[in-house]
Amino acid sequence: MRHLVILISGHGSNMEALARTAQREAWPERLNARIAAVISNRPDAAGLKLAHDLGLPTEVLDHRGFASREAFDAALMQRIDAHAPALVLLAGFMRILTPGFVRHYAGRLVNIHPSLLPAFAGLHTHRRALAAGCQVAGCTVHWVSEAVDGVEAAAPGASERAAPPGILGQAVVPVLPGDDEQTLADRVLAQEHLLYPRVVRELLARTS
Ligand code: GRF
Repeated sequence: MRHLVILISGHGSNMEALARTAQREAWPERLNARIAAVISNRPDAAGLKLAHDLGLPTEVLDHRGFASREAFDAALMQRIDAHAPALVLLAGFMRILTPGFVRHYAGRLVNIHPSLLPAFAGLHTHRRALAAGCQVAGCTVHWVSEAVDGVEAAAPGASERAAPPGILGQAVVPVLPGDDEQTLADRVLAQEHLLYPRVVRELLARTS
């Protein structure tokens, strides 16, 4: 049985979408894959209760108990590796990961980001898309590389050396007249909940 480990920090709605899809589509029987653990770096993450109610094993590793990013990531790796995961799925996990962590899970580490990467890597994606006058917005599921949200820092002339963003799937929504950050975020999030399970299902089907 292949194990999936999901990392969250907050609401966990993407985790819920993954879990409900896995259940509805019988991933353990049909794809030989199950969600082995939901791990949060925040003890108060609402997603923990949601995961518990969905019957998923939950764990908390509070980053505030660690002196450095490296120390936290090392402890997190131990927790994750105890499940020998085939895939580690970041679902609203609000931590910048160390290069060692990312290298350790190379080819197994997937993230969802609420923009059409490589546009708007980082925070406040919807605010920035609205400010830029974009007519479409969306979300991206991608392999995690050492750059934030899979996008290398833009150094002049460096584009040919930049790592590819490793895009696995994207969904596009319109920006509508009168949109604010919240209405746009809600429209994108509804697509995230469809995109992330679809991409993970495809990855699992490709390698089973
Ligand atoms: C989502 O928009 C996700 O793309 C971003 O953070 C948000 C998490 O939402 N990385 P949730 O915790 O899955 O509800």
